[in-house]
Amino acid sequence: MSYENITTKKENGVLTITINREDVLNALNVATLQEIMDAINNIQEDKGISGAILTGAGAKAFAAGADIAEFADFDAEQGKTMSEAGHMVMNTIETSKKPVIAAVNGFALGGGCELAMACHIRIASDNARFGQPEVNLGLVPGYAGTQRLVQLVGKSKAIELLITGDAIKADEAKSLGLVNHVVTQGELMSKCHEILNKVKTKAPQAVERVLSLVNAYNDKNTDGFAEESIEFGNSFATKDFKEGVDAFLNKRKASFTGE
Ligand code: COA
Repeated sequence: MSYENITTKKENGVLTITINREDVLNALNVATLQEIMDAINNIQEDKGISGAILTGAGAKAFAAGADIAEFADFDAEQGKTMSEAGHMVMNTIETSKKPVIAAVNGFALGGGCELAMACHIRIASDNARFGQPEVNLGLVPGYAGTQRLVQLVGKSKAIELLITGDAIKADEAKSLGLVNHVVTQGELMSKCHEILNKVKTKAPQAVERVLSLVNAYNDKNTDGFAEESIEFGNSFATKDFKEGVDAFLNKRKASFTGE
């Protein structure tokens, strides 16, 4: 699939996906979300890629929300379809077998905040702003903001942000647990690479299992405790387990193959 709304770059085993609609502050039209989903799907079986970074073009916005111009004339049925398609994109990111980091380089509002929340980790530059302003438009969030914001910051603060539509600064987002780290704009991408480079040295199957097990916590149909025991057991059957233990016992650095 060739992309019109995003750019992608492979570098040191990391795929950087950049939303490339700077003139509309990287607003997320349907096509952009489909392209992001396609790019994430493509790395799942790519042995040369260990993780992804998602960011926005320019210095002002990660993504200023769903594209308001695109949905301005939607009716109820179209709105529901839009939301369901968006959920699929966000779920694809959240269930990625490889870690996806949001490099939030400015406004992350509405769908932009929801997109960042679907990522496994969020790193913000100090000019980033987070918020769910849908109530200003007579809407509720449609890309699972009512669900993931509660998971990340707790019910009380989530309700406040969702019903006031307030945008918060990066430091407050960090204090709430919405972002992992706040850095300068110049340090944003290197911080993301630093984290993914560290993860790259770990056992790939173990990383994949951790991502899946943490998602199980929020899956009402899955017993995450039972799943953890199963996956803990499965880990013993990997070559990487033997390598990791042997490296520890022999006081050397482990070299994992993903087997
Ligand atoms: N959808 C479509 N276009 C958007 C957009 C969105 N979510 N957010 C910004 N844009 C467009 C603006 O219409 C404007 O286009 P124009 O130059 O053709 O007029 C351009 O991006 C720049 O935005 P502008 O509003 O002029 O920038 P600003 O610095 O004054 O304000 C924001 C920045 C983010 C505060 C403001 O753009 C905004 O409130 N955006 C909407 C946020 C929102 O409600 N998101 C949730 C949608 S469900």
